[in-house]
Amino acid sequence: MRQQTTPRHHAMRTLPLLLALAMGMTAATAAGGDAPAPDQRAAAAVAAMTLDEKIQTVFGYFSTDFKGTARPKDGVPFTAGFIAGVERLGIPHQQLTDAGMGVATQPSEQPRARTALPAGIATAASWNPALAYAGGAMIGQEARLSGHNVMLVGGVNLQREPRNGRNFEYAGEDPLLSGVMVGEAIRGVQSNHVVATVKHFAYNNQETGRTKVDVRIGDAAGRMSDLLAFQIAIERGDPGAVMCGYNLVNGFYACENDYLLNQVLKRDWGYKGYVMSDWGATHSTIPAALNGLDQQSGWPFDLSPYFNGALKEAVENGHVPPARLDDMARRILRAMYANGLMEHPVRVEPEKIDVAASAAVSQAAAEEGIVLLKNDKGLLPLTNTYTTIAIIGGHADVGVLSGGGSSQVYPAGGSPVPNEGPASFPGPTVYLPSSPLKALAARLHAKFVYHDGKDAAAAAKVAAGSDLAIVFATQWTAESLDQPDLSLPNRQDETIAAVAAAGKPTVVVLETGSPVTMPWLGAVDAVLAAWYPGSSGGEAIARVLTGEVDASGRLPATFPRSVAQLPRARVDGTGLPEAARFSTDYNIEGAAVGYKWFEKKGHQPLFAFGHGLSYTSFSYTGLSAKADGGAIAVRFKTANTGKRAGKAVPQVYVSKVGAGWEAPKRLGGWDKLALAPGQSGESRIGIDPRVLAVFDTRANQWRIAAGEYVVTLAEAADKPVATVKVRLPARAFAAGAR
Ligand code: NOJ
Repeated sequence: MRQQTTPRHHAMRTLPLLLALAMGMTAATAAGGDAPAPDQRAAAAVAAMTLDEKIQTVFGYFSTDFKGTARPKDGVPFTAGFIAGVERLGIPHQQLTDAGMGVATQPSEQPRARTALPAGIATAASWNPALAYAGGAMIGQEARLSGHNVMLVGGVNLQREPRNGRNFEYAGEDPLLSGVMVGEAIRGVQSNHVVATVKHFAYNNQETGRTKVDVRIGDAAGRMSDLLAFQIAIERGDPGAVMCGYNLVNGFYACENDYLLNQVLKRDWGYKGYVMSDWGATHSTIPAALNGLDQQSGWPFDLSPYFNGALKEAVENGHVPPARLDDMARRILRAMYANGLMEHPVRVEPEKIDVAASAAVSQAAAEEGIVLLKNDKGLLPLTNTYTTIAIIGGHADVGVLSGGGSSQVYPAGGSPVPNEGPASFPGPTVYLPSSPLKALAARLHAKFVYHDGKDAAAAAKVAAGSDLAIVFATQWTAESLDQPDLSLPNRQDETIAAVAAAGKPTVVVLETGSPVTMPWLGAVDAVLAAWYPGSSGGEAIARVLTGEVDASGRLPATFPRSVAQLPRARVDGTGLPEAARFSTDYNIEGAAVGYKWFEKKGHQPLFAFGHGLSYTSFSYTGLSAKADGGAIAVRFKTANTGKRAGKAVPQVYVSKVGAGWEAPKRLGGWDKLALAPGQSGESRIGIDPRVLAVFDTRANQWRIAAGEYVVTLAEAADKPVATVKVRLPARAFAAGAR
């Protein structure tokens, strides 16, 4: 990567050579040539650092008053983290902010108002990597203008557990889809000279007992599922940092797990960035340092400042080799040099945020992430034929819901629904002031009547007096809390059933972080999954409902019919005392996560992975597939056969003929095409060889078995449209290759 030079040529004569190198200057750069590579600059900087400066670089503070400790004076207030820079070497402070939906604020009286993207799961539902990139670029810019140069964005934990309270921050259940979408978001963030942090490495897939749970999983199953999602996100996005999770993996804390950090991440994948701990996830000095943690985060979250004085002492006593401390500091500095943090210092200048431009980026992602699950009798898109429309529930008169916890982005003017949800973390429940009702009223000439939906009978009466009922059903999910089951909370199922029974056309708009069950499904005409749709969510929902844009989202996760279909009857650890340690066995499903589990078990889901209706129709022709350099090259044509412009999401699945895979099929690729009526487009998809392989732990290699493979073109995991067969030769390749 080319680096710009620092404008400090006058210092050249006085600085020692190493120091000059670290600051990006050589005789060549002083003369206007290229700066040395980040590796070289980081090595030079570390060589010029004192022991104390190195320790300072690997020890992070929470940048919020907490546990009686005042935030560091140079930290941006009420944010996630601060690490002091080394001025004499031109190393700036690291100013860390959450998270995936935008610039968050830790609990404070006056949270900063910033633009919220739709939830990560919503962006994933767009199946449009360009939108993930654009969203990342937007929030990365807002982070920079908020004074931050590190953003804790890149949540890619697989949705193994639909009850996980943080599913909204992630990108669904498939490693390829998740990895690509999150990798693109990371790339977008880093286009602003802001380091991104893929997280939470690894298997932090439930919130119940998140710091106590020991996840049991075999190496091969993990490499083909959760770890593959990280691997793809990392190679696509090249994040400067990886955040290790709270949980244990096979008996060891993720943040001192030699297997995860040293063997898989750094050795097999050749990762050159640094590993930072989650806040409160460091548990030791020597084991953590030796097993691959590079930076302790968020002091005073942990019990002890392990990477401060104790680490210095461990280095002085020889328990941690000085070379390892150098490696820790070098990795951090390398990420900073590689992303241009030295050349592009951040300033707090939020007045420069182009609020309208940010809102447009958020809205585009929300619109393409909304999934039309059901649309009977062509009720949607709504036409101007209704005299009275009942809008019921979900505070749809004033805004849209957002997910809770450290990723919370606050809107200008505060939540229009104050005092909802827990008073302290992960609360409060925040609504974003983008009203679906107002956005609909701006588009349809009808009388709108709002009812809060709390009393089912009263809501049904309002519906009965209208020509159309739109029920907004919400499920608030948040960091640190899992859902008890898959039902909508607060008896909303009763309200929906009662409204539907009023006999008027009924639409349900879901604002949820996870899949929910729908006992009323047969009684309603249309259902839209809008997730948490972000700062412009009301507009996005109205535009999809009225057909100003096509419904083009597709499910990035299976919607089960019931909890009985899941690998676990309940989330392990449920009901245990807070201090209890326990394990959860991911070997039950192994790599067969989500739709793979459903197909392997023969379970019929409520809505399959990849499902989503459009307002137009598509036809697919000319599917061909051929072996191509150890992978498969696929081609086909999609045509818009309907009367409206729309967006198709053709999906390519692969199956291996004969035994050997964890499940009948795997997603091998997809395309997203915008097509006018009558228009067609060609797709060329290269299937990632890892999706054709099985991981061989003994050889530490991927292996593609020689034989026949079926390539299926589909509109959803349960909706194949064409298949072809390909014969592949045997192939083995390294754990970090493809
Ligand atoms: C804990 C969360 O797990 C993590 O995602 C977040 O970045 C940190 N806290 C900092 O707020």
